[in-house]
Amino acid sequence: MPYKKLATASIKSTTGIIMQTYKIFENSSHKWYVIGRDPDKPESIIDTNQYLVVTKNNSLLMDPGGIELFAGMLATIIKLIPVEQISHIFASHQDPDIISSLGLWDQALPDATLHSPWIWEGFIRHFGMENIQYDPIPDKGSDLKLDHVNLQFFPAHYLHSSGNFNVYDPEAKILMSGDIGAAIEAVDSPMFVDNFDAHIPKMKMFHQRWMPSNEAKNDWVNRARALDIEMMCPQHGRIFKGDDVKRFLDWFEALPVGILQK
Ligand SMILES: [Fe+2]
Ligand SMILES: [Fe+2]
Repeated sequence: MPYKKLATASIKSTTGIIMQTYKIFENSSHKWYVIGRDPDKPESIIDTNQYLVVTKNNSLLMDPGGIELFAGMLATIIKLIPVEQISHIFASHQDPDIISSLGLWDQALPDATLHSPWIWEGFIRHFGMENIQYDPIPDKGSDLKLDHVNLQFFPAHYLHSSGNFNVYDPEAKILMSGDIGAAIEAVDSPMFVDNFDAHIPKMKMFHQRWMPSNEAKNDWVNRARALDIEMMCPQHGRIFKGDDVKRFLDWFEALPVGILQK
């Protein structure tokens, strides 16, 4: 299907923040959106991609981002769905670029549930959590049913965080891969990989420095190969489609990680 850039991308929000929004999947049961490329981002903050799955009456907001992004995210999402439809939040791990906005979402979504690795509960609660329920994901992973859509929390430990999950949607064939597949590049970069070889230099240092374990990496590659993936969606950089997913798995398998560049 064509990857539709939504009208919201060109509408200036009341906060003055414009974030690009793409609908990357749609069928009769659900939709996937990516929201990213924050033009107001300070130079010294890493840019992030946020993902949203919308079903009939529910919604899962994945890796909602840093505290500085909250106003732009809220302004963007309320153009798509009523805010109270965000019934579930997912945090792949404990990093501030993933979930430091939690204390603000906690005020906006008092009845939501946060799904995050069990190991990080005592840390993530430091971001502020009075109302939202914490649903700890066990190390082996778990499932989440949103209306008639089944989503899987897919283990990705040590990639890079020691407790870390991806989200796999077998119906849409989408793997939200968190920091795996991340690239560091300009805030106005395209949302999709169009030349895999040219993309490698933007990923290499990040994966070699952030990912500590070749054993964990190769275990993840083997399990990811068993999934049917049409799109792999990282939290930084660009989305991989079709054959570029396989190219990424081959490249990542061959890459030694846990290396301190001189
Ligand atoms: Fe991270
Ligand atoms: Fe990250």
